[in-house]
Amino acid sequence: MNALEATNRYFKRAVKLLGLDSKVERSLLIPFREIKVECTIPKDDGTLASFVGFRVQHDNARGPMKGGIRYHPEVEPDEVNALAQLMTWKSAVANIPYGGAKGGIGCNPRELSIHEQERLTRVFTQKIHDLIGVHTDVPAPDMGTNAQTMAWILDEYSKFHGYSPAIVTGKPVDLGGSLGREAATGRGVVYATEALLADYGKSISRQSYVIQGFGNVGSWTAQLLHEQGGKVRAVSDVTGAVKNNAGLDIPSLIAHVKETGGVKGFQGGDALDPDILLIEECDVLIPAALGGVLNGENAKDVKAKFVIEAANHPTDPHADEVLEQKGVVVLPDIYANSGGVTVSYFEWVQNIQGFMWEEEKVNEELSKYITKAYKNVKEMCKTHNCSLRMGAFSLGVHRVARATLLRGWEA
Ligand SMILES: NC(=O)c1ccc[n+]([C@@H]2O[C@H](COP(=O)([O-])OP(=O)(O)OC[C@H]3O[C@@H](n4cnc5c(N)ncnc54)[C@H](O)[C@@H]3O)[C@@H](O)[C@H]2O)c1
Repeated sequence: MNALEATNRYFKRAVKLLGLDSKVERSLLIPFREIKVECTIPKDDGTLASFVGFRVQHDNARGPMKGGIRYHPEVEPDEVNALAQLMTWKSAVANIPYGGAKGGIGCNPRELSIHEQERLTRVFTQKIHDLIGVHTDVPAPDMGTNAQTMAWILDEYSKFHGYSPAIVTGKPVDLGGSLGREAATGRGVVYATEALLADYGKSISRQSYVIQGFGNVGSWTAQLLHEQGGKVRAVSDVTGAVKNNAGLDIPSLIAHVKETGGVKGFQGGDALDPDILLIEECDVLIPAALGGVLNGENAKDVKAKFVIEAANHPTDPHADEVLEQKGVVVLPDIYANSGGVTVSYFEWVQNIQGFMWEEEKVNEELSKYITKAYKNVKEMCKTHNCSLRMGAFSLGVHRVARATLLRGWEA
């Protein structure tokens, strides 16, 4: 089942739980706008290269549409569509005044020089500049893009519309980025884990963790868990996996990754087969890399009691059913990784106000939003007697449906 089929399935279940009208269902499901553009750039060697760029703007009932831009060879319309829809529900679960969007360019950024990446980003921005906007659609970084990519979008967009720092979030701090944004998704994952564990009478410090992915989200999550006394027993990335039953020394591992480019070869633990990482012994499993990694095949062997979805859609619906039958509690992506978009919202607010917040304020506000959202999701679970995933989906869909109905239908 691909990401769009899985997302639509949860959406339809939420519609049923909420008893929504079929007209509202249709209106919420169909994206507001789908953009597909051709981007041709001169390569460094003088030849031309053409790429296809997408932006799906899913819904704007609650505010400007918000979501990342990916540079990845497998960017395709169905997945971008699913991720745009997930952003709509995620923003609503976090209760920030945004709708959802997602975009991407089908390319391999590793095969492009920095100058080619800059040209491609500028051409893409030229093609979509009149369809995005500070109060329309605000992009952010995603897989294969970063703060530098956002800086180029800001610069190119500002040529057409005047200086507009709030057009993107996840920018460098020197260009109006927010303090705390880089760590925000991982920090949000840890706040969300804290809220879940507290509900079960547990705390971060008494649990063991296994984390797949040691990029932005995975490494910040590991570092913050480690700082709070959590025992991170194993981590993996694209280079391999390492394990230490006594707990990995995360600051040393981060230094090793900075030096060598991956977790492979870390001396503070033993090498582990990355294929069995997800079924390693631990209390809390945190997939923080790719989608669809927990499936009907491996879910039955998961030993963790809790799965925290730091990545987007890491658990396919078959795995979801198996885990539920096994009594494994899954904290869904649209809640668990909402720290990133929440601090993006703080960045946008700071840009519009022209006033920069201290990092402590950013983290304090983030903690409030994540804790409140957990309570709201649990209330939905109680009302509809459902899992945390369906609690989060019904909360998101309910809030967007309410906004849509309040805005009315008259043309
Ligand atoms: N960065 C954010 O603010 C943010 C917000 C919400 C959700 N997410 C989601 O979190 C996930 C990770 O994002 P990120 O920003 O950390 O990306 P990233 O590119 O910084 O890191 C990705 C990590 O995954 C690892 N990886 C890739 N393939 C792997 C494999 N087969 N096995 C194990 N590890 C593998 C990479 O080596 C890297 O360590 C993605 O699903 C993303 O959509 C990110």
